[in-house]
Amino acid sequence: MASSAIVASLATSLSVSSSSSLSSILVFTKLGSATVPGFSSRLSFAVSPLCFSRRGRRIIMAHATLGLTKPAQIDPYKISFAAKEIEVVEWKGDILAVGVTEKDMAKDENSKFQNSILKKLDAQLGGLLSEASSEEDFTGKPGQSTVLRLPGLGSKRVGLIGLGQSASSPADFRSLGESVAAAAKAAQASNVAVALASSEGLSEQSKLTSASAIASGAVLGIYEDSRYKSESKKPVLKSVDILGLGTGPGIEKKLKYAEDVSSGVILGRELVNSPANVLTPAVLAEEASNIASTYSDVFSATILDAEKCKELKMGSYLGVAAASANPPHFIHLCYKPPGGPAKVKLGLVGKGLTFDSGGYNIKTGPGCSIELMKFDMGGSGAVLGAAKAIGQIKPPGVEVHFIVAACENMISGTGMRPGDIVTASNGKTIEVNNTDAEGRLTLADALVYACNQNVDKIIDLATLTGACIVALGPSIAGMFTPSDDLAKEVFAATEVSGEKLWRMPLEESYWESMKSGVADMVNTGGRQGGSITAALFLKQFVSDKVQWMHIDMAGPVWSDKKGGATGFGISTLVEWVLKNSS
Ligand code: BES
Ligand code: MN
Ligand code: ZN
Repeated sequence: MASSAIVASLATSLSVSSSSSLSSILVFTKLGSATVPGFSSRLSFAVSPLCFSRRGRRIIMAHATLGLTKPAQIDPYKISFAAKEIEVVEWKGDILAVGVTEKDMAKDENSKFQNSILKKLDAQLGGLLSEASSEEDFTGKPGQSTVLRLPGLGSKRVGLIGLGQSASSPADFRSLGESVAAAAKAAQASNVAVALASSEGLSEQSKLTSASAIASGAVLGIYEDSRYKSESKKPVLKSVDILGLGTGPGIEKKLKYAEDVSSGVILGRELVNSPANVLTPAVLAEEASNIASTYSDVFSATILDAEKCKELKMGSYLGVAAASANPPHFIHLCYKPPGGPAKVKLGLVGKGLTFDSGGYNIKTGPGCSIELMKFDMGGSGAVLGAAKAIGQIKPPGVEVHFIVAACENMISGTGMRPGDIVTASNGKTIEVNNTDAEGRLTLADALVYACNQNVDKIIDLATLTGACIVALGPSIAGMFTPSDDLAKEVFAATEVSGEKLWRMPLEESYWESMKSGVADMVNTGGRQGGSITAALFLKQFVSDKVQWMHIDMAGPVWSDKKGGATGFGISTLVEWVLKNSS
């Protein structure tokens, strides 16, 4: 039995020595190191919960939250992963889960499995597996799964998990991992193994990517955000063995990568799930600073307050922020690679509306989802989740700027009125014909700022328009870019991440509807093509020298089915940054 061993270093403890007086620019650089290397014979996935108060830091006002709610500080939850090469029948534990295609389920004339792994298992079980699986009408369809409590094996239970006609993409293996997590939850299993009935067809490379997709599916599937419940059950799953996909440093590196990305996805989900009375712009800025101080070897953080943003002439962003008692915070994290200068500079810009009431154009009526508008910082959740993952992976040769103009869109006597004209930091004037089209106003100044960092490429992510949900539904994001090269790069990244993006047109003739009689532009066109005119608006604030992409993630930010944030965008962004690394 060859079990791969790895040292996992888990960065969960933080030490920040700087005062967090947020009244001017805050620069966090090279604050105390926070990585605590721990030895483990297995690769550990640590899920570090979002914490809003840290030892050694002055508690900022926002911590005295409206409603007295504080997220529970849940101990980091760990699942350890190991890649092993042992016979499935030899494995001992709670659930042995086997991913099977419909073809793998084929039986011969004596109703016996033809697939060698299933055949071995069935023989060991005296034919019970084939009997039980046909009784349960398990045919290997995608999403189908059955867990059988059968005597005669080292494993207490055998799970069959359907992969459909064939399984080849990382998305297929991620959902296999999620099904394994669901089975483990249902059976209260503390250790499980995952094997594929037929892995012979897979190349060495796809064995690695499959293993890492299974691992991230399992860790993200088991995760439940219970920070806002007064009581919660801790998941019992402790270990996952991945059988038959190889052992050694190659697969260990991939599993570590899955761990890093997953911890970023979990941070992103926690940020988006947090209600707006807890996650104010100041708290979002503090979370960003925490990332920078945890990975202080590669990150620096700059947080600009309203005063500083005024100096930078960010009138468009400040207009949106003007009604809120929770002041805006402009967040800029800079990742510099270890070991030499970067060849490519990237900008990731995220919409960071911690709440969107609509402003004077208040969100009313059924279906406006005002109660969900805490998720309107989903773009920034994606950007900061990616920052956390990049802080752990530390890709060489690439510099990355993470930028969020965080604020809240509220209503008050100091707020922006419909019809007001605001002036963005590139000097362009905007007639605000709808205060609910606020995201683009904040992104305008964030994009100007990003271009001033001399980046080569920018991706912005935003829960920008309801129109994009009408066009593409709840699980596909809209991609807008004038650059075919950038589109290609990002599509290549989604092939690994499995996230769904659909390229939309930047139809210039639609700009007509964005013309204003009194200013350079209005902020809202008509109802038609609403996600396209929103993207054309953003384009006004991007330099021609920069390759730019806008991703409208209004649909996939949230899962109604799961009742929570998805962490959409993070795995694609990390993959894209790595493609630009050298
Ligand atoms: N945050 C919303 C977009 C949104 C709506 C996301 C529903 C997810 C679900 C955005 O700020 C907004 O209000 N957009 C308006 C634009 C309109 C006024 C042109 C919209 O989509 O209705
Ligand atoms: Mn809005
Ligand atoms: Zn919004």
